[in-house]
Amino acid sequence: MSRLVAVSNRIPLGDNPSGGLVVALQDALRTSGGLWVGFSGETVEDPAEALAFHEGAAFQRASFDLTPQDHDEYYLGYSNSVLWPVCHGRADLMRILPEYLDGYRRVNERIARLLAPHLREGDRIWIHDYQLFPLAGELRKLGVRGPIGHFLHIPFPGPADCATLPNPPELFEWLSHYDLLGFQAQRDLDNFAASARSLTDAEQVSDHDFRIADRHIRAGVFPIGIDADSFVAEAEGAREEDRMRSLTGSQMMIGVDRLDYSKGIPQRFRAFQYLLENDPSLTEQVMLLQIAPPTRESVEAYQQIREETEHLAGRINGQFATVNWTPIRFIHRPIPRNELAGLYRQSRVGLVTPLADGMNLVAKEYVAAQNAADPGVLILSRFAGAAEAMTEALIINPHDPWELAQAMQQAIAMPLDERRDRHAALLRGVVEQDVGWWSATYLRALAQAPG
Ligand code: ADP
Ligand code: F6P
Repeated sequence: MSRLVAVSNRIPLGDNPSGGLVVALQDALRTSGGLWVGFSGETVEDPAEALAFHEGAAFQRASFDLTPQDHDEYYLGYSNSVLWPVCHGRADLMRILPEYLDGYRRVNERIARLLAPHLREGDRIWIHDYQLFPLAGELRKLGVRGPIGHFLHIPFPGPADCATLPNPPELFEWLSHYDLLGFQAQRDLDNFAASARSLTDAEQVSDHDFRIADRHIRAGVFPIGIDADSFVAEAEGAREEDRMRSLTGSQMMIGVDRLDYSKGIPQRFRAFQYLLENDPSLTEQVMLLQIAPPTRESVEAYQQIREETEHLAGRINGQFATVNWTPIRFIHRPIPRNELAGLYRQSRVGLVTPLADGMNLVAKEYVAAQNAADPGVLILSRFAGAAEAMTEALIINPHDPWELAQAMQQAIAMPLDERRDRHAALLRGVVEQDVGWWSATYLRALAQAPG
């Protein structure tokens, strides 16, 4: 079997990585072995022009540093102030500076230069996410001919959103150098096809085959999964029960998200506020635990979402708290995975209410962590990629606080039989389409892609 070389912006070098991509890729590489290359997280004025190799994992890891300017323009700039808002339907939050696109191209070119000397004949190269769209083209320029696949962890924008990018056709030029494009959901593949047709002279040859700039590209849907078995084991081993019971004495609803405007956290808080306003019997009976570590804090839109959520939580707590009870507990720290699993298991309701999301692994983790004999209820936004398969969750529109508040009430009151039926069906999907299934299915398709 040829070697797998995975490249992503972020690579976990420490403990407790958060973010769906690192959690999933770590699980995939642990099984298959290979090399994982990514940004170290360090910015230095004069970074080494060579990859640094790290010991201590079941697979090889190699990282590179960035200059502060590269970090500003490539990561905070084009990746997270242009592509991220556009892909999440928030072009209004986009901030375009001319140097962002230059920095994005420059860093991708540099990563290709650092990586190329370590590639071997026959390697399968798997590039991840929106930070690295141009990487295949840069590797091709350096003579790399083997199979290169891309997997997009976030939504692909439709034609109207794509058109707001600084240079829309360039996105498709970047993508034309891949042999296989992987998307989280059918919705993303449909958006890709519609945007390519409307913004370029790409030709769609079949449901999965496209001709762009004289190259044949295959595209498919590969919904990402979790390491379900190990998550079930973590949750069963967790001993959080007693601690949480003594902490709250009430039913718990849980939200676990990076503190991102795409995650719908203010909408969730407002719905909880409506719930408490409309059903005073829930006073001291239900609490919302929101775990949300901040990311991308130098980007203004992230500073705003932090202020907005903290302000809202403070206001709701001020309005409803009693001497014995705080309705919203808001934690900004990363939490070790086994502890997280225990918290999911203790929560009667899992709240996954993004306004837009590629997949959302928290939805799958919540289901895997439940006690099958007395499981909690997943409330899931219809705008998460996960909603395409997890139809037994309570599917809601997160923009409608009344609908969400009603779903919270329904989940809290749901009879045991119904909870068990819904959970059994959801768990089956989470276990069948786990992270191993995801990477194996993707890599099989890459091996068969026309190239
Ligand atoms: P995204 O990729 O946008 O961050 P996902 O829901 O797909 O969203 O993935 C988030 C991942 O990060 C999950 O595996 C989740 O458990 C993990 N995570 C999120 N918040 C925390 C936290 N506070 N501590 C530890 N892990 C976290
Ligand atoms: O899954 C989407 C994603 O942007 C990943 O590419 C990224 O690793 C993760 O979320 C966390 O974001 P960041 O690395 O910017 O903190």
